[in-house]
Amino acid sequence: MNPLRSLILAAAGSDAVRRLVAAAPGTSGVVARFVAGDTVADAVTRVARLTGDGLSVTLDYLGEDVTEPAQAEQTVQTYLALLDRLYGAGLAGRAEVSVKLSALGLRLDERLALDNAHRVCAAAEQCGTTVTLDMEDHTTTDATLRVLGELRRTWPWVGGVLQAYLRRTGDDVRALAGAGSRIRLCKGAYAEPDEVAYSRVHEVDLAYVRCANLLLAGDGYPMFATHDPRLIAILAERARWYGRKPGSYEYQMLYGVRPDEQRRLAGEGETVRVYVPFGEHWYPYLMRRLGERPANLLFFLRALVSR
Ligand code: FDA
Repeated sequence: MNPLRSLILAAAGSDAVRRLVAAAPGTSGVVARFVAGDTVADAVTRVARLTGDGLSVTLDYLGEDVTEPAQAEQTVQTYLALLDRLYGAGLAGRAEVSVKLSALGLRLDERLALDNAHRVCAAAEQCGTTVTLDMEDHTTTDATLRVLGELRRTWPWVGGVLQAYLRRTGDDVRALAGAGSRIRLCKGAYAEPDEVAYSRVHEVDLAYVRCANLLLAGDGYPMFATHDPRLIAILAERARWYGRKPGSYEYQMLYGVRPDEQRRLAGEGETVRVYVPFGEHWYPYLMRRLGERPANLLFFLRALVSR
């Protein structure tokens, strides 16, 4: 991993840097580029606009690594309120939710996270929509896949995420490419040690294509989360090669990243889902986005000094 990215990801875990960034005058403008707002109402307004443009959505209530059961409960309550609002606004057909198990208590107790995830899934089913479990750093991979397996026994439509940069992921893809599965494939956003993850860009890209082939050859529903133009071109070619029609897989991109490309693909008849984060705990999410692209960091630094 390049040293600048490692530094930014290290800063994502620092409370002192978080306070500095939060207090800087230009921060709110940068946050607004990547985060849909603080509240459920802000998020639902954004969903209405995106779905009006022919895009689908997955919503993430920001927050991770909770240290108290009460914080996990607050996360569940927010997801329940969100699903209720989406249903009431007639948007649940095109908007699902993404959930981080560490926000539901995974680091406190796996059983607590599972029970909380069941509650979110039950509400999603009632609204006629789905849930995808985000994947966090490699220390949570086994637990997240265990919880995914448990949830799918009751809610077979629950989606999972696999990260191409992890050396183990080929095996995980093979295990999860079967009928009924919904797997989001991404490159991976965390600072990981060399023993568990590829660090060179081209190794990660090659791994992504290998995993994409396995998913496309399988019977599940692949969800390709990337903004990488080269990968998107390869995915389009591979999908055709495997005889996959649009609608039997989807592209996913982050809110605020390559919006023109999102609309271009949707205009060509592809399903494109935008990952829309909202809530006050935006700091680690923002730092991961800044780490992905030096130009974002420059944009951020310029915003900080331009006020
Ligand atoms: P890469 O970072 O190589 O970027 C390729 C090109 O895309 C860049 O050159 C630039 O043009 C554009 N681009 C990429 N990121 C940009 C940005 N932030 N701002 C502006 N342009 C940008 N990770 C994870 O570990 N667990 C998860 O659960 C998820 N979930 C998830 C959902 C969705 C819908 C997406 C799109 C991504 C994730 N990720 C994730 C993040 C993912 O692992 C990865 O870090 C980012 O998508 C960036 O990787 P790319 O594939 O876009 O390529």
